[in-house]
Amino acid sequence: MATAWDYAPAPEARDIVRIQERYGLFIGGKFVEPLSGERYTTIDPAREEPLSEVAQANKADVNRAVKAARGAFEGSWSKLRPSERAKYLFRIARILQERSREFAVLESLNGGKPIRESRDVDVPLAAAHFFYYAGWADKLEYAFPNRRPRPIGVAGQIIPWNFPLLMLAWKIAPALAAGNTVVLKPAETTPLTALLFCDVLRQAELPPGVVNIVTGDGRTGAEIVAHPGVDKIAFTGSTEVGKAIQRTLAGTGKRLTLELGGKAANIVFDDAPLDQAVEGIINGIYFNQGHVCCAGSRLFVQESIYEATIAKLKRRMRTLRVGDPLDKNTDVGAINSKQQLEKIASLVQSGVEEGAEIYQPPCKLPERGYWFVPTVFTNVAQSYRIAQEEIFGPVLSVLTFRTPDEAIEKANNTPYGLSAGVWTEKGSRILAMAQRLRAGVVWANTYNRFDPASPFGGYKESGFGREGGRHGLEAYVALDDA
Ligand code: NAI
Ligand code: MG
Repeated sequence: MATAWDYAPAPEARDIVRIQERYGLFIGGKFVEPLSGERYTTIDPAREEPLSEVAQANKADVNRAVKAARGAFEGSWSKLRPSERAKYLFRIARILQERSREFAVLESLNGGKPIRESRDVDVPLAAAHFFYYAGWADKLEYAFPNRRPRPIGVAGQIIPWNFPLLMLAWKIAPALAAGNTVVLKPAETTPLTALLFCDVLRQAELPPGVVNIVTGDGRTGAEIVAHPGVDKIAFTGSTEVGKAIQRTLAGTGKRLTLELGGKAANIVFDDAPLDQAVEGIINGIYFNQGHVCCAGSRLFVQESIYEATIAKLKRRMRTLRVGDPLDKNTDVGAINSKQQLEKIASLVQSGVEEGAEIYQPPCKLPERGYWFVPTVFTNVAQSYRIAQEEIFGPVLSVLTFRTPDEAIEKANNTPYGLSAGVWTEKGSRILAMAQRLRAGVVWANTYNRFDPASPFGGYKESGFGREGGRHGLEAYVALDDA
């Protein structure tokens, strides 16, 4: 069934955003030329058009940023009254809200995600994180009763490209609330909202050096990790790089939190409200093109409702609108990069070759840019690569189960453990499943819900440490006995 009529284009105007031709590095409260002298082009993945020239920071640049952060830590920030620190965080949160449309448009332009998501999810949640941690800044002794929390020092933070501004907020807000200073590196494909954020810091009159933003690829990240002046590393990205970072830091005494990949199980029992569950399945895997570490990429359906679920799912997939990220009606935007598109395509190919049955709804893709049609695989065996490896794209693998025990067994049969979903009418079953699923977050009758007050993080190869909530402060304080 096709939709009865086509939607007229509803593009968000992009002229609210002023992108500079080139950017420097944000160090010590101002933009400076990179000592490396190197720049690279950042693009719009939906149009394959260049947007700006961005600095590729080298070792000397990172050193300069760490020195600025150290100076700010010792000179002012760690000594500031906590209620003063809170004041800056509240300001940042309010400015993000005031400039939300600008941030949403820029996020969609540089990363390819639908404007509906950047406008309704990424930007409001980023502001909410700053509001939330602003509230903790002068109440840290209540967060850690009978202990005396003090800041650690300079935090080196490395973030990915799937939620550029939101991951920046997750990293910077708790670090600053606890009195630390920051050197942050955005992902190479999505630096522009982090660079716009520097303007927010200027507007908020944050003391120079408290937050420093250095752009560049993995080499820049590795320099931050290795720098002896950094006291703590917070990383979100691939399990492969997470492991390499852990090896580098072994024995150095630097603190580390890792938020890595996932292969979450979304489990639907036969008593679940099926239409709601189908919405949850769709949201679980096609939200943000599936570039989501906690994506519900393995669907487990109880056998008695298998046929009905798959029929409803395919019907719903045919109504997904794929295309221009800046169009307000778009559900699925552009794949973030050529490299990621190639990875998705090759894993999908492996699924076909291993014998799974593929379904893709009819879909007209734009000629330029990086796109992938929402895909579902049925007939998937647990050993297939598409059931084991993180695809990080709009690709769902469906498996079945008969009993709750079988569902648990199969769901936990993965090296990852970041998130899971359970769909059932039975409250007791939800609690029983949540107890036994080895996943940091378990959603019940919903999926991909985030709240700054709620901790997020993984087991096993999904990493360690928690972000969000009171738990998220722990990574940024040293605790002395009171
Ligand atoms: P990546 O892990 O290489 O990149 C993430 C961040 O780490 C970027 O800022 C990057 O510049 C930086 N980085 C890369 N190498 C580094 C190093 N040696 N030392 C320090 N920092 C380094 O991820 P990539 O290559 O962009 O994506 C590959 C796969 O990783 C994806 O297909 C996906 O499966 C997974 N991934 C998972 C994410 C998550 O949120 N769990 C986020 C991004 C990627
Ligand atoms: Mg990489």
